[in-house]
Amino acid sequence: MKTKNVKLESLKGKSMKTLKHYKLDAAIPPYETYLDQTELRMFQLKKYHLISQAYILPIPYICQIYHLLNLKHLETIHKFSLKGLKIGNIGQIEPTPIGGSIKFQTTLEPSLNILRVWRKPTIEVELILHTPYTIELKIPIYHNRQINIVFNMLPLANNAHKLFIDIYSNIIFPKPILQIILHCASCLTLFEDLPYLNELATGNPRRWVRATKTSNRDTMQLFKRFVELYGSSLEQPQSMGAIELRPIPDPAC
Ligand SMILES: [Fe+2]
Repeated sequence: MKTKNVKLESLKGKSMKTLKHYKLDAAIPPYETYLDQTELRMFQLKKYHLISQAYILPIPYICQIYHLLNLKHLETIHKFSLKGLKIGNIGQIEPTPIGGSIKFQTTLEPSLNILRVWRKPTIEVELILHTPYTIELKIPIYHNRQINIVFNMLPLANNAHKLFIDIYSNIIFPKPILQIILHCASCLTLFEDLPYLNELATGNPRRWVRATKTSNRDTMQLFKRFVELYGSSLEQPQSMGAIELRPIPDPAC
């Protein structure tokens, strides 16, 4: 705890563009513990920062969470950008007091996929639910290099949220070219996601939050963890979307 306080103290006065907007734009400011956790992680990654993007989406925040934590959607929704990607072995979730992480294998089929230039055909990816507002995807590439994608979400209203995407990497590649490629890839994946997000938004999120409690699907373990921690708040009709989420005390942690 002391080490964490020292680290957080050292963050004061340092500018981090995304977090500055994240704080200013918050209709409901994230719980201080969550903000501390996000600040610390983004500070750890700061020197590898490549691009930032932000979007206001007329979609409930819970739909974005469901989408990002649903591993299967990488195969089914991102058929074009992640051409031929298959989800392989999925590990067991490692819970934390306010989230959790899961590792899973992804395999690219032999094809003219640009990703094949940077990554091995089969790699183990890690998805981390840092807080109910921050999710990170860690993608290893060749020679102990990796790409980290951090998604921060802010509920703006019951049916709208702001999505911040920050991409980091220690890959050795000309930075301006890499930035252009990542900006294009990020726009493309969001474009692919929009019909899926809209479909989720027209459904009944409270129903799939309830259904997830009894689900045993490997691909939804992290969303199940999210529901375990924050589901009771989300099931209140007036609270969908714009809500400050605090974890339910969890005897397992
Ligand atoms: Fe997606």
